[in-house]
Amino acid sequence: MDLRKGEKMPELRLEHVRKCYKGLPAAAEIEYVFHTGVYGLLGANGAGKTTLLRMIVGVLQPDFGRILYNQQEISQMGGEYRRILGYLPQEFGYYPNFTVYRYLKYLAELKAVPPELAEERIEETLEKMNLQSVKKQRMKNLSGGMIRRVGIAQTLLNNPDILVLDEPTAGLDPRERIRFRNLISGLGRERTVILSSHIVSDIEFFADELLILKAGKQADSGSVGQICDKIKGKVWESLESLESARRLNQEFVVSSMKNMEDRNVRVRILSDGKPAEHAVLAEPRLEDAFLYHMTR
Ligand SMILES: Nc1ncnc2c1ncn2[C@@H]1O[C@H](COP(=O)(O)OP(=O)(O)OP(=O)(O)O)[C@@H](O)[C@H]1O
Ligand SMILES: [Mg+2]
Repeated sequence: MDLRKGEKMPELRLEHVRKCYKGLPAAAEIEYVFHTGVYGLLGANGAGKTTLLRMIVGVLQPDFGRILYNQQEISQMGGEYRRILGYLPQEFGYYPNFTVYRYLKYLAELKAVPPELAEERIEETLEKMNLQSVKKQRMKNLSGGMIRRVGIAQTLLNNPDILVLDEPTAGLDPRERIRFRNLISGLGRERTVILSSHIVSDIEFFADELLILKAGKQADSGSVGQICDKIKGKVWESLESLESARRLNQEFVVSSMKNMEDRNVRVRILSDGKPAEHAVLAEPRLEDAFLYHMTR
């Protein structure tokens, strides 16, 4: 969307959102406001990322709490909300015998993209996702990563204001990952992009803001810098013999161990106090912060 002078920043608001499965919370009292930009949901397997995203796109109803888009409850908006939404589910369905082109054409119809615009939009998205060369191939003959790219492409057909992508980088090769990162940064300039991943380096690269989930709860949120700042003074590095590195690994939370040329090991440790005689404080990285919250 093109924000003109006087127009308000779009706002997607989660108010005390809760969802339980068999009495166990998959989302617990989530409170968050999304505006324009790229937001990353980071969490281990089962942390509740998919559950939260499914509530945001309206395919799952919260047990408690509300989700509002520009002050309107999304459950009341119906088709109006669906028209501004692009969604890539973690597992997405497709017709194996459709060609890529036919699949996109079919989805453009489902999304009520005006027929006179559809052709142009399909070509645009094929170009953006680097799919021109497989346009005429059947879906069943594509690799997993390629199918994921088609999945991302279909979310862009209606030029959505809110783009929700559940594990979009799963199965992409390194080159495609870089291409995708750049694409996402571009898309986040003029809309709300919310995506999930458990790959810290992906989220670190493109998320303006992130939300760390642990067992359905909001463990932390903010920019990468803000999240890392909170664990300043708790990340240490120490050069140790193999034997003492092993001992430290049993005693402390170790975020990495690197073998050095002199047979010593560089150990990165999360600890409130100095964990070893020669340990020195290190600059926290998002990986450290993520591990810190996961092990607390
Ligand atoms: N339909 C369901 N029925 C019962 N339990 C469910 C259902 N969907 C999710 N859960 C549970 O809710 C919790 C959160 O699951 P969710 O799929 O949201 O996690 P996730 O962060 O997306 O995990 P992953 O990284 O594996 O995709 C898990 O404990 C899961 O077992
Ligand atoms: Mg998931």
